[in-house]
Amino acid sequence: MAFEFIETSKQSTIGLIELNRPKQYNALNRTMVREIVEALESFDRDEDIRVIVLSGRGNAFSAGADIDEMAYDDTVKLELLNQFADWDRISLIKKPIIGAVQGFVFGGGFELALSCDMLIAAEGTEFSFPEVTLGVMPGAGGTQRLTKLVGRTKALEWIWTGNRIKAKEALQYGVINKIVQREVLMEETLKIASSISNQPPLSIRLIKESVSKAVDYSLYEGMQYERKNFYLLFSSEDQKEGMQAFVEKRKPQFKGR
Ligand code: HXC
Repeated sequence: MAFEFIETSKQSTIGLIELNRPKQYNALNRTMVREIVEALESFDRDEDIRVIVLSGRGNAFSAGADIDEMAYDDTVKLELLNQFADWDRISLIKKPIIGAVQGFVFGGGFELALSCDMLIAAEGTEFSFPEVTLGVMPGAGGTQRLTKLVGRTKALEWIWTGNRIKAKEALQYGVINKIVQREVLMEETLKIASSISNQPPLSIRLIKESVSKAVDYSLYEGMQYERKNFYLLFSSEDQKEGMQAFVEKRKPQFKGR
């Protein structure tokens, strides 16, 4: 697939998506968001791909939505555009998405990062919701996802002030999984991606689904959901293989069925 604002490639069982507008710090215009979603969906359907890695070329992951594109929008135009329908499709991706971020992770860029399942950040990465300084507010899930992640108090502080949150603080609040040197950001992310891609894909898939439900469901509903997925895995070949291999004291060969 040919894209204008992103690059995609495959490395073994890992699908790579790179935001490619480095001169504008990967500011997200609407076409670019559409391209990211289409690339995610394409990797999600691709039988050879087990994990997706999302990164940004240059000195920033993304400085947010393209301000030039939306500066003169009005309410009716936004309603008719319904651009967030594209963003909603990200949460339907079944395979793990690991974000590798550096530099500015601002506004819509932060929201895109929060749509990933895991985040690895380079030293010096800064996270921010600067929308308030533009007279608006986050619109692609920022107020919801951040609050569910770090709680109301910190979410309000960060979104009200627009302050830049350093990687260390983001790690402390569970926004990111790990901080690494800039030079090894991709290498370290690929290591994690590849260790996940060696696990049985159906387990990985249903774990993502179940953990995501913990955010929206009550504990009781979430437990029922988890149980169904647990039972479901017992009809997979990989469950037979995984447990048989343990009994036979050998390494399992997972097939994703
Ligand atoms: C459009 C942007 C941009 C953005 C940077 N650029 N961020 N263009 N939209 N969000 C462009 C600049 O216009 C400039 O283009 C080039 O990238 C380099 O940026 P500079 O400002 O010259 O660089 P620097 O001085 O290093 O400052 C970097 C920065 C600053 C701190 C990241 O660019 C900045 O504050 N950007 C805006 C960040 C922001 O407010 N994001 C939230 C957007 S609202 P030229 O052509 O002049 O070289 C949002 C809402 C999401 O995300 C809603 C859901 C979709």
